[in-house]
Amino acid sequence: MNQHLNYILDQLNLSSQLSDEDKINLVTALKKADRDLTISEFKLERTEKVKRTTAILLEETIEELEHKRKAIEDTNNALQQSLDELKATQAQLIQSEKMASLGELTAGIAHEIQNPLNFVNNFSEVSKELLEEMLEEIQNGDMEEVNAIAQDVIQNLEKINHHGKRADGIVKGMLQHSRTSSGEKEDTDINVLVDEYLRLAYHGLRAKDKSFNAALETHFDDSIKQLNIAPQDIGRVVLNLITNAFYAVNEKKKSQIEGYEPKVTVETKKVKNKIQILVSDNGNGIPKKVLEKVFQPFFTTKPTGQGTGLGLSLSYDIIKAHGGDIKVNTKENEGTAFIISLPTN
Ligand SMILES: Nc1ncnc2c1ncn2[C@@H]1O[C@H](COP(=O)(O)OP(=O)(O)O)[C@@H](O)[C@H]1O
Ligand SMILES: [Mg+2]
Repeated sequence: MNQHLNYILDQLNLSSQLSDEDKINLVTALKKADRDLTISEFKLERTEKVKRTTAILLEETIEELEHKRKAIEDTNNALQQSLDELKATQAQLIQSEKMASLGELTAGIAHEIQNPLNFVNNFSEVSKELLEEMLEEIQNGDMEEVNAIAQDVIQNLEKINHHGKRADGIVKGMLQHSRTSSGEKEDTDINVLVDEYLRLAYHGLRAKDKSFNAALETHFDDSIKQLNIAPQDIGRVVLNLITNAFYAVNEKKKSQIEGYEPKVTVETKKVKNKIQILVSDNGNGIPKKVLEKVFQPFFTTKPTGQGTGLGLSLSYDIIKAHGGDIKVNTKENEGTAFIISLPTN
């Protein structure tokens, strides 16, 4: 029994003022109090134990959380590193996409330069002959004829200059294409730009694959005035859409469907305050599963080496940067149309 209660019990037993009955009642009450006290002590002890275990558990949990926090931190660092690496790779790939599209262009460029070169060669030869004639006429003293020949030579030299400049422009354009675009906007004749890239793409493919052939249809809206755009960037978009279209019709042609005639149509249109550039083909179309992903970077259905999967994703970024949008209409087995809309102001 509790020592204080024990003391009270002793005092109680010694007391002469209490009746025996009172003593019995008081002793019973004391014993009950002692039992309650013991129970309370026991409970208290148990609570203490629980408290101690809880404290230990809490400490363990805190330690575990700290571990987890560290692990997350490590993962974050690793992720950041991968992200940096990915960004670097992406920049490299964008550059290689540019180089690949430049590769697609080279044959076309060679073809395009051949024309002005032929002019320059022919006209310079003719001019030389004309000047020899002129020397004769000078000796003959026929000044009227000398005059006429001089006029012809002047005209020829103008033509030589014109075609020389054209070749110069083509080479400059090619160099610009391979350089990082400044994204700087300038007033550009969309019809001329689209036509130029269309021809480069077409002749480029023809030069690479002699069997390649497709009907080309163009509709240029003459009411379109100059548009303020980054010409290299929009040129790259057009080039990619056209190359994709040619690829699609060429693929369909390989399946040798009876009476299939590959055809690519390029159109410009003024619609309200927007300029549209449409590139359509009668290829195999894009299945729904593929369509969801075509604008994702690195998505391609082409064999390795033939596609980077960056064309449409870059195109999307370029068009968005111009405040425009790019849409696709496609029907399986019938063909695809990509529609670019650019604001006129
Ligand atoms: N005109 C089209 N007809 C059919 N599929 C197309 C057409 N244009 C794009 N695609 C699909 O979209 C994918 C992504 O195109 P793109 O981003 O230009 O990359 P890449 O040409 O390198 O594959 C292509 O691989 C192809 O599956
Ligand atoms: Mg492409």
